[in-house]
Formats: sequence, C-alpha cells, structure tokens
Amino acid sequence: MRGLVFMCLIGCSLANEAVYSWNGPGEPSQPDPGAGNACLTDTESCSCCLMQKQMKRMESFFNMSLNEMRKGLEKAETALKYVRSSRSAFSVALTDTRRCLSSSRDDMVVKYQYIFINLGDGYNVSTGTFTVPRSGVYSLALTAYSDAGAPGALLAACVRLRKNGRAVAALNEYNTQDQEDSTTIVLPIQMETGDKVDVTLLTGCTLCDDNSHFNTFSGFLLYATD
Ligand SMILES: *[C@@H]1O[C@H](CO)[C@@H](O)[C@H](O)[C@H]1NC(C)=O
Ligand SMILES: *[C@@H]1O[C@H](CO)[C@@H](O)[C@H](O)[C@H]1NC(C)=O
Repeated sequence: MRGLVFMCLIGCSLANEAVYSWNGPGEPSQPDPGAGNACLTDTESCSCCLMQKQMKRMESFFNMSLNEMRKGLEKAETALKYVRSSRSAFSVALTDTRRCLSSSRDDMVVKYQYIFINLGDGYNVSTGTFTVPRSGVYSLALTAYSDAGAPGALLAACVRLRKNGRAVAALNEYNTQDQEDSTTIVLPIQMETGDKVDVTLLTGCTLCDDNSHFNTFSGFLLYATD
C-alpha cells in the first residue's frame, strides 16, 4: 500500500490530468460520483485518489476471478479423487499350468488362481469371490472350457455365475459329441456395495485349463450409482 501511494504521488505530480477508468472486463466504466467536485478544488489529490480507487477495483476483480478458479479446481480435484477411489476391475483365469478341476460330490466355488488384473482388490484369490466395493452397474464376463479327454467321452463344462449365493446365469456344455468346447456369458448387472459374486462348478462337471487361459472370469465397474 505504501508503494502504491508513493507511485501515486509521483504519478500525480507528473500528470495532473491523468484519467484512470477501467473497471475490469465486462463492466462498463462508471464516472465516480462525487469525484467531480473534489477535482474542481484539488486536481492532484483527485487523480491520485481515482487511481487508487481503480487499482482497488482491479485488485478485487482479479481476486474474485482467482477465487472462482480455485473453487473450480477444488471441485475438479474432488471429482477426480472420487473416480480414482471407485476404480474397480478384475480379470482372472483358472490356472497357469495344465490342470483339470472336477466337482465330484457337491457344487463348489471355482478359485481362479491366475490374476490378470485386480484393480481395487475386489477379487479374493483364496475364496474365489469378488466383493463389490461400490454400488453401480458392473459388467461381468465368464468363459468356461473343458476337454473330455477322448472322442466320445462326456464333456461336462457346467458352471453358474452367482450373486450373493444365488445363480444369475449359467453355462452348460454337456454332451458326448464334442471332445472340447467353450461357452461364454457377458452380463451387465446392478450391484450394491458388499455384494458377492462367484462362480460354482456343478456336481459331476469339469473345467480344464493351461497357460492358454481358456477359463476366465472378469468384471469391471461400468459406472457408479451412489
Ligand atoms: C481476496 O480474497 C480473499 C479470500 O476470499 C480475501 O480474504 C481477501 O481479503 C481478498 N483480497 C482482496 C484484495 O480483495
Ligand atoms: C480373503 O478371504 C479370506 C477369508 O475370508 C480372508 O481371511 C482374507 O483376508 C481375504 N484376503 C483379502 C486380500 O481380502
């Protein structure tokens, strides 16, 4: 402020009739009411005072713009954080080595062991369960493959995609015509935070896999709804 007054005084002594009239973009400049009378009696202090007034206006104009920009930035940052924290995607395969998995007595939860991606850690390898981290529409996909071992043998690739223990979709390749076959479900579905999704292998059925990853299970958040 001291600097301003100093500059102002120099300005006043150099140019008595200096006129400063800028109110910032978008605002038409207004004559200063009352300034006219003062100018008639003391032109030096008048230009100085006008200049100060205009500087103050400019200052508060830019300050306002800056504050608005800051608010906008804060909002954008919050939105970005929200998007980051709700990222969720998993994609797993049955195994990475040659292996068949059979369910001889009861339906059993398939524990996919090979992880492509587990963004948000929603998929638990030791339980074979995906726990929904945030309510939203998820896209789930399941591919089941099996090899009967010999021509004419029973091919039985039969699995259920379950949500909270209840089947929502099923895959069934059960015949003696194909020695090997695969089948797929893709399913967008609304789920709530804490819902659990898994895949069960039905009694008497078999899945076979190797490092080609014929059996995959995946899901990702399409968009959040909370
Ligand atoms: C600028 O804005 C801040 C925050 O609203 C305020 O504290 C400060 O007094 C303002 N400065 C001017 C010169 O208007
Ligand atoms: C997976 O589930 C098991 C059994 O409920 C639990 O003990 C373990 O902490 C879970 N792992 C992760 C990474 O959540």
